[in-house]
Amino acid sequence: MSEADSNMDKPKLYGEYLQLPSLLKCQSMTSAEAGKPVHDEHLFIITHQAYELWFKQILFELDSVREIFTAPVLDEGKARHINNRLSRITLILKLLVDQFLILETMTPLDFLEFRTHLATASGFQSLQFRLIENKLGLKEDSRVKYNQQHYMEVFNDPENIAMLQDSISSPSLLTLVERWLERTPGLAKAEFHFWERYQSAVNRWLEDQWYQPVKNESNPEVKETLMAEYQKQKDSFDTVFDPEKHQKSMERGERRLSHKAFQGALMISLYRDESRFNQPFHLLTLLVDIDSLMTKWRYNHVMMVQRMIGSKVGTGGSSGYHYLRSTISDRYKVFLDLFNLSTFLIPRDYIPPLTTTMKRTLSSVINGDCMEDEVRASKECSP
Ligand code: HEM
Repeated sequence: MSEADSNMDKPKLYGEYLQLPSLLKCQSMTSAEAGKPVHDEHLFIITHQAYELWFKQILFELDSVREIFTAPVLDEGKARHINNRLSRITLILKLLVDQFLILETMTPLDFLEFRTHLATASGFQSLQFRLIENKLGLKEDSRVKYNQQHYMEVFNDPENIAMLQDSISSPSLLTLVERWLERTPGLAKAEFHFWERYQSAVNRWLEDQWYQPVKNESNPEVKETLMAEYQKQKDSFDTVFDPEKHQKSMERGERRLSHKAFQGALMISLYRDESRFNQPFHLLTLLVDIDSLMTKWRYNHVMMVQRMIGSKVGTGGSSGYHYLRSTISDRYKVFLDLFNLSTFLIPRDYIPPLTTTMKRTLSSVINGDCMEDEVRASKECSP
């Protein structure tokens, strides 16, 4: 019997299995080392470590979701795994958003007592936090510069730098979701040609809802206001109808998804009640939840920072509160397009009815899965 086999047979005790002796030895208080222990430093360390442990779990789930997405065909089981794991990430994030409350029981004066011992240590150097941002798909040029420095410059361990570079160069969740959305059934001309039908439906809705009142209005001033409203609505829809305008919005960083992927997301949102789109719609909702919880995390963190250090500079050397506040913006929303989808939804009565073939395609699949013969017929089977 090999040594590995004999180790497997050996019953493990709780502490051994969880390696608690090492884990629970990792809380050395710098204030105690300096001979003047500050009670709250213990909480400060435990809180950060708990965050990092949960970051590790988020990365574990995120990596597995990205791997599933790279499979040529998403079968039913795999699609379910994606939603389960993304849903788990949202629950962890909810916990992390609230966890700041515990650290807020420390008073700014108590923090000041050991802050000097932190030297230049700062959450800005959290490798796992950067990996989460990158793997979700936060774009490099969306980041606010920190002291005119690239965040990578604070890392000097070659292994960490390699991990960061890999997180930038390998496909992010955003990229994978984009590719998957581009294959939404019903987008192609030969199928349902959703985009053409959607544009006619929007024009009909704009005419009924916004242009008719202009025509019926006799008061010139009110007529002018109504006309301006109508034009505003029309211009807004034009930004998605016109691929060039969409491209320009992408270049300005206002949109992240390709024109085709955006169409897929919109189609899923409008026909979410069809069985094949149930799971994809849930997935899109989870992505919005993740983005929204990341923003809430940033917000709660910055509120705590302001409470603890006011506008003093950070230990990592940034302007502190002011730098962090600038990260609570749409620039940091990876799935921004999914938030903005609501702008382009139209009332149910105007949604183009599905053709019989399309209806069959979308109801022939249980829970967002592809039917096997479809998979064989075309590798295009997606949501
Ligand atoms: C008293 C509590 C805390 C204070 C005063 C504080 C302060 C700061 C400051 C000032 C920054 C900006 C960088 C710098 O100049 O240092 C920062 C960044 C950061 N902190 Fe904290 N922090 C606290 C707690 C935490 C906790 C519990 C976490 C959990 C992991 C955390 C994670 C981070 C991360 C990830 C960043 C980088 C954010 C970004 O660049 O977008 N911080 N913190």
